[in-house]
Amino acid sequence: MLALKALGVYLLLFGVQSASSLTHKTLELMSKYRLIDGHNDLPLHIRMLKNNRLSKFNLYNNPETATDITRLKAAHVGGQMFAAYVLCTAQDKDAVRLALEQIDVIRRMCTEYPELELVTTSTEMNATKKIACLISIEGGHAIDSSLAALRMFYQLGVRSLSLTHTCNTPWAESSSQHYSYYKRDDNSLTDFGKAVVHEMNRLGMLIDLSHTSWATAKAVLQLSKAPVIFSHSSAYTICNNPRNVPDDLLFMLKANGGLIMVNFYSDFIACGAHANVSHVADHFDHLKHVIGAEHIGIGGDYDGANSFPQFLEDVSKYPALIGELWSRKWSEEELAGVLRLNFLRVFKKVEKIRDELHNTIPSEVLIPVAEAQNDCRLVLRHPKIPEMVKSTGMRAYICLRSDALFWTVLFVHFMLLCKPIYYN
Ligand SMILES: *[C@@H]1O[C@H](CO)[C@@H](O)[C@H](O)[C@H]1NC(C)=O
Ligand SMILES: *[C@@H]1O[C@H](CO)[C@@H](O)[C@H](O)[C@H]1NC(C)=O
Repeated sequence: MLALKALGVYLLLFGVQSASSLTHKTLELMSKYRLIDGHNDLPLHIRMLKNNRLSKFNLYNNPETATDITRLKAAHVGGQMFAAYVLCTAQDKDAVRLALEQIDVIRRMCTEYPELELVTTSTEMNATKKIACLISIEGGHAIDSSLAALRMFYQLGVRSLSLTHTCNTPWAESSSQHYSYYKRDDNSLTDFGKAVVHEMNRLGMLIDLSHTSWATAKAVLQLSKAPVIFSHSSAYTICNNPRNVPDDLLFMLKANGGLIMVNFYSDFIACGAHANVSHVADHFDHLKHVIGAEHIGIGGDYDGANSFPQFLEDVSKYPALIGELWSRKWSEEELAGVLRLNFLRVFKKVEKIRDELHNTIPSEVLIPVAEAQNDCRLVLRHPKIPEMVKSTGMRAYICLRSDALFWTVLFVHFMLLCKPIYYN
């Protein structure tokens, strides 16, 4: 009886001891290889909750969000790609302004708080002892089909762009059929879409295929000179959601040298609201089995979704996953890669391709007007009156009537002095 009791105490002690030593080992590993996460939507919440008034937002301890500085530090997070997310309903309206405002709020957050550091290179990201912030744009509609706009976003520090969100762009297809914009027959990637891929390679921007259709992802994987990422997607074989990545695409991703950063959103993990950390680990096991641990990262999607697995509810909980993978016999080397080193390797390679392309001039490809026709796009052409009325519709007609004298003078001026100039 006494012996049994002693055994019970022993088992209890042993159990507790091994659990706490696992936790200790996990945290030690995570402080050595500080996590770089691929996708976080905290900036969206700064807009939703405070209309981007950062001074009114509690970034240190915020019960309204899954992300704050205290909890990021608790999980030894060393880098975060923050999403400058633009609503699909802003496509062809003010998507560019909204993207600029989200970039502004990320830049403010990452330069005004001493715990955060805005970075734009893999070297800076690796070197900082703070939490590195890298800006990514979520949704290709933010560039309004303009490579010049893409380049200017790069100048502002943007280093990653997901080609679509839940809407097609005029040049790439979304995995979601949520919106009716820009439906095409062959909608994988248009010629302009190919130009976007080439230009992102030339600039050294990470191409993010989370949210694109598989056809678009396939086309990009065949075309891109640099490795690409899925910044927040999980394994389709484990949960059949079109936001996840099927095995044939995973093979292409491996050949491309890229990275899939696993999304924790319960709907993508367990195809429903009930998931726990074990289900997330099942995705990691599958991905490792198919393409190897060196192509896997973490893109939790915190503050970008509304239900997260038990034990992974917010950004302080990453250690639960690393502990679970450790107990599933993932090696220290594999986990170091998943946490940090795989992302740095991919980012460095993207920069290397940029360096190799330094003799290539910026792309001057323009999207054909017919492919990006919408009310907010000014058509620059010489003001021959009937064409003007045809191309810009009623508004131009009203302008013409109210400014008849001006247009007549201009028309005569053009007819007499100028050769016709067409801009498209
Ligand atoms: C990151 O920094 C460490 C330590 O300074 C260095 O050994 C390593 O090579 C760096 N890795 C990258 C990818 O820059
Ligand atoms: C997660 O849920 C499954 C049942 O769906 C269960 O078998 C497993 O033990 C749970 N994992 C944890 C860590 O609680």
